[in-house]
Amino acid sequence: MPHEPGTTKFQIDLRRHLREQNICDNLVHLICEIAEAGKYVINAVRTGDLGVAGTSNLYGEEQLALDVLSDRIIKKRLIHSGVVCSILSEEMDEVLNVKPEADGLYSVGYDPLDGSSLVDVNLAVGTIVSIHSGCTLLKPGRSQVAALYILYGPRVSLVYSVGKGVHEFTMNHLMEYTLTRENITMQPAGNIYSPGGLRNKYCEGVEKFVRYLEAKGAKLRYSGGFVPDINQILLKGKGIFMYPALNGSPKGKLRLLFELNPMAYLIEQAGGSASNGSIPILDIMPDEIGQLEPVFIGCKDDVEKALEFLNEE
Ligand code: AHG
Ligand code: MN
Ligand code: MN
Repeated sequence: MPHEPGTTKFQIDLRRHLREQNICDNLVHLICEIAEAGKYVINAVRTGDLGVAGTSNLYGEEQLALDVLSDRIIKKRLIHSGVVCSILSEEMDEVLNVKPEADGLYSVGYDPLDGSSLVDVNLAVGTIVSIHSGCTLLKPGRSQVAALYILYGPRVSLVYSVGKGVHEFTMNHLMEYTLTRENITMQPAGNIYSPGGLRNKYCEGVEKFVRYLEAKGAKLRYSGGFVPDINQILLKGKGIFMYPALNGSPKGKLRLLFELNPMAYLIEQAGGSASNGSIPILDIMPDEIGQLEPVFIGCKDDVEKALEFLNEE
């Protein structure tokens, strides 16, 4: 049901919106559980001790790094949801099997606190989540049934898709996620670019692409946080984010299963595209759970242009 700006009389909350998507009840429940976990993560980010794992706080208690704490918060919630059979996160070395395979169960890959080193300098961070149906996570991103991220910035927002458009919810004063933008769509091309990694390690094609962007007057917008950087491009509907192969890091830095696949799913749902330089991110068949891939993601024509420069090389 469309909710035109200005015609919505009541706030639409996340659960109601999910129910209107005609998806399986278990998936509604799972996404709501992840959204609930986000409330505890933002509390930890806002008020938790800043420190490294293994050190102790003012009271002599051992303190956990925020990414480890966020991982525990989300993992616990997923295990108790009753609808998850396998879990993988950036903080885990292997897939955690929670339940035996059965109909109506999901597997979840997530980055509990992307950009965690930015919390120290009070910049925005986020949680990124990929959801597949069944218990296998080593599948191309194209088979995701849902993807979402939660952005912990000056406000908390949650952006999700279950393959029926991309929708943004913002946390209100009661900590409820209420609909703020529905069916987010991207323009074919934009004037924002977010380039990750060290420029003096770019290959010639990427360097030429950056020079092309500079020459056309594109704005440099890079915070070092994947979630806020993608959120800006997605919600403004224009721009490109890249984390290319670097000299010495041929696969870049970002992880396919819980960083790139969910973001590529959301961006494609909004009309944009995402490539590793050769094939769409969502078509990559992963070989291993920690797989890295280079990425060019954002407006369709901008990604296409990046590929032209790469292929000239
Ligand atoms: P994480 O904190 O989960 O390890 O990931 C940080 C990522 C991502 O947020 C961002 O896009 C990228 O690292 C920034 O890396 P550079 O500083 O190398 O550009
Ligand atoms: Mn990360
Ligand atoms: Mn992380």
